[in-house]
Amino acid sequence: MTATQRPATTTDGGAPVASDEHSLSVGPDGPLVLNDHYLIEQMANFNRERIPERQPHAKGGGAFGTFTVTQDVSAYTRAAVFQPGTVTEGLIRFSTVAGERGSPDTWRDPRGFSLKLYTTEGNLDLVGNNTPVFFLRDPMKFQHFIRSQKRRAANNLRDHDMQWDFWTLVPESAHQVTWLMGDRGIPKTWRHMNGYSSHTYMWINAEGEKFWVKYHFKSDQGVEHLTQDEADDLAGKDGDAHQRDLYDALEAGDFPSWTLKMQIMPFEDAKTYRFNPFDLTKVWPHADYPLIEVGTLQLNRNVTDYHAQIEQAAFEPNNLVPGTGLSPDKMLLARGFSYADAHRARLGVNYKQIPVNAPTAPVNSYSKDGAMRITPVADPVYAPNSYGGPQADPSRTDDGGTWYSDGEMVRTAYTLRPEDDDWGQAGTLVRDVWDDEERARFVENVSGHLADGVSEPVLLRAFEYWRNVDKEIGDRVEAATRALLST
Ligand code: HEM
Repeated sequence: MTATQRPATTTDGGAPVASDEHSLSVGPDGPLVLNDHYLIEQMANFNRERIPERQPHAKGGGAFGTFTVTQDVSAYTRAAVFQPGTVTEGLIRFSTVAGERGSPDTWRDPRGFSLKLYTTEGNLDLVGNNTPVFFLRDPMKFQHFIRSQKRRAANNLRDHDMQWDFWTLVPESAHQVTWLMGDRGIPKTWRHMNGYSSHTYMWINAEGEKFWVKYHFKSDQGVEHLTQDEADDLAGKDGDAHQRDLYDALEAGDFPSWTLKMQIMPFEDAKTYRFNPFDLTKVWPHADYPLIEVGTLQLNRNVTDYHAQIEQAAFEPNNLVPGTGLSPDKMLLARGFSYADAHRARLGVNYKQIPVNAPTAPVNSYSKDGAMRITPVADPVYAPNSYGGPQADPSRTDDGGTWYSDGEMVRTAYTLRPEDDDWGQAGTLVRDVWDDEERARFVENVSGHLADGVSEPVLLRAFEYWRNVDKEIGDRVEAATRALLST
């Protein structure tokens, strides 16, 4: 394009401007004038470019893609998005949890795996992680947990003492901390990790039959990790390594994909299963509930405006469609409240009108006005009305509320069942799933972390924590930590 073919610079109001380089002054050496609107508009816009970052999961990146159903799971859900052959456009965002927007992609941390599917029945959001479990089973602890992973009040530094202090006082964290300190604590790239709903959700079929389900997105690229040394090295050289890897892969036409597989538990099983199937610190053994294939998620289109399409993306577990629902998992129920609130605070009440968040399905809500409402609202603005406004369909039962519950108001996360302990599944991971090399790297990762600023009383609790997971691994962690501390 030659200079003469280039579009003329304009103000935000569309009027041509006289110069990209010089402000308007009274003579070449004189003062600037207030009526140089373009200069003032540029300065004002610049001063307002940043919006608050997400509280957790601030650093991330993503892309657009398609989800294609390859199998028939209509026996379990009537959701249009999961019917055979259906192809749905989607947006994905990967993230780290504790770091800020500029923090390195390769810090040891769970990775967020957020998916928004623009289905014909409204948006379905699956806001999961790259681990099948989480640190907690009660949402009361979530805010405290995140604060313990972020920065101290006085010195504004992240602090291993604070992290281990919290973890060792909250034994339900053991399973997820075992994952975090193992190989999967630092994925090689976003393409080389799985995504999990972690939570149990509900599926409902056309007959109204209900099932408890867990989503597993298995990487078709394979699962690969970085060692601590490789990750530390990359953090210094290229803090945005994962963002770069995804963007470059898509630009090169190398489209990553994941196979969606479900674990499906009949509704009645949940009442008598040997541990609480809604406890987010537990996995369901595949021997009891094998993986059932559903379809393929492929990423195939880079975003063109990171701010508009990723920074302003708003994922929320309450974005559910007919045939899907929440479960009695208390963490999930709290998330059902929390995310929309976070978006209203960060992006404003009309955040669902930002194109990347807007459903492709028609919206006929009675929400009205508020800052930055873009879509015109038509009369009538209230219901019920006799002027042809939208009418709720009573046959659409509230899928999310269809389980049974009664009892006194209590503050306890679930009634205990025989296998509802905090250590068992973490021990199984260490002993039965990992091999000797994985166990050796785990001991190295944990001891390296503990030897870096953790105080003596917390250290003693940490050694005990790992002995509770597995006696031998606890002894090895203690020996390795003591050796590091004495050098
Ligand atoms: C982000 C709250 C547990 C995955 C967030 C955000 C909040 C939040 C407020 C920031 C949202 C934003 O500003 O856009 C909570 C609460 C939890 C919880 C209250 C528990 C009670 C979990 C769990 C998972 C998870 C268990 C995974 C299974 C994510 C992901 C993001 C996120 C992936 C980033 C979303 C994005 O990509 O924009 N969480 N969270 N969170 N959370 Fe949670």
